[in-house]
Amino acid sequence: MNLALDKGCLSCHGTPPRGKAPTIAQLADWYVPLKGQEDQIAGKIGHLREHHLFGGVPAHERLSAGEAERFVRWLVDGGR
Ligand code: HEC
Repeated sequence: MNLALDKGCLSCHGTPPRGKAPTIAQLADWYVPLKGQEDQIAGKIGHLREHHLFGGVPAHERLSAGEAERFVRWLVDGGR
């Protein structure tokens, strides 16, 4: 997943994770059950870019809507 590498996502979500960040595998565990539930998926995409819910992670805020969507859909498909 080049997006995760390019945007520095793995510096927090890699293995081992930084601080309280979940690993990519944990994120996939949360997101795979959302497969087919488009309203839930759309909610996650919007949520990811709303910094205040995350205590302000600049890497999240810098994602475009398209990038956030690609990333969330990639996780829903298992994050591989
Ligand atoms: C500075 C560290 C850091 C970076 C860099 C970072 N994240 Fe995060 N991310 C976190 C933390 C911490 C959480 C957990 C926030 C919480 O649970 O309140 C999180 C949560 C998430 C979640 C889960 C949202 C949910 O609750 O469903 C996703 C998806 C995510 N990050 C994607 C990304 C992507 C994509 C990138 C790269 C653009 C990225 N993160 C970069 C720290 C980071």
